[in-house]
Amino acid sequence: MVDFHTHILPGMDDGAATVADSLAMLERLRDQGVDTVCLTSHFLKEEPSVEDFLRRRAAAWDALRAALPEKHPRLLLGAEVQYRPGLDEMPGLHQLCLQHTNVLLLEMLFHPWRREEIDTVFRLAEGGEYTVMLAHVERYMPLQRPSVWQQLADRGVIFQSNAEIFLLPAMRGVALTMLRSGYIHVLGTDTHNLRLRAPRMDAALDLIAREMGDGARRAMRQRSDDYLAMWTI
Ligand SMILES: [Fe+2]
Repeated sequence: MVDFHTHILPGMDDGAATVADSLAMLERLRDQGVDTVCLTSHFLKEEPSVEDFLRRRAAAWDALRAALPEKHPRLLLGAEVQYRPGLDEMPGLHQLCLQHTNVLLLEMLFHPWRREEIDTVFRLAEGGEYTVMLAHVERYMPLQRPSVWQQLADRGVIFQSNAEIFLLPAMRGVALTMLRSGYIHVLGTDTHNLRLRAPRMDAALDLIAREMGDGARRAMRQRSDDYLAMWTI
């Protein structure tokens, strides 16, 4: 099982603060059956440059790598890239893709998207250079015209939802409807810490199995592996 969205790299953002935090989060994910973890620190729209971000990320990675236990999930460096005007032409954007892939984990803004914002996603998705993965798609859904989701799916955009939405009573129905309708392709925990935003991948998969059958859980696990293999360059 792949966790496509986490904030585990130490000291990079509002996620893990220390290497000890990172290790505890990785251990929790490993215990939940996650064997591949994508380390997707925030690349916010205010971030001055890709180079600066990559320098900080390399230092955080060195610190974490030096402390990793013998058994740990496979780790892939990445970023959660926040939308900014002209993002598709930002120098160095391809360096923010998930390691060994052309997957760009994209965080859109939380308002009804303007034409230019949607068109930027379309250009990124259609240009052939990127596989665009929309981060925590459930957060934007209520704000957009329903037709936009099919337009995005038609362009090969991948929808990532946070595992926790299957566990929130107020969101569970929506999450299951989205999954049944094909508007959730992959899961991420979006874990930031072990207090309020702990990873709950196993509980989310259990819920999916209870509501939709064990086949749905197996399919979700398999899809995450198959997609990653397909995207790996
Ligand atoms: Fe995130």
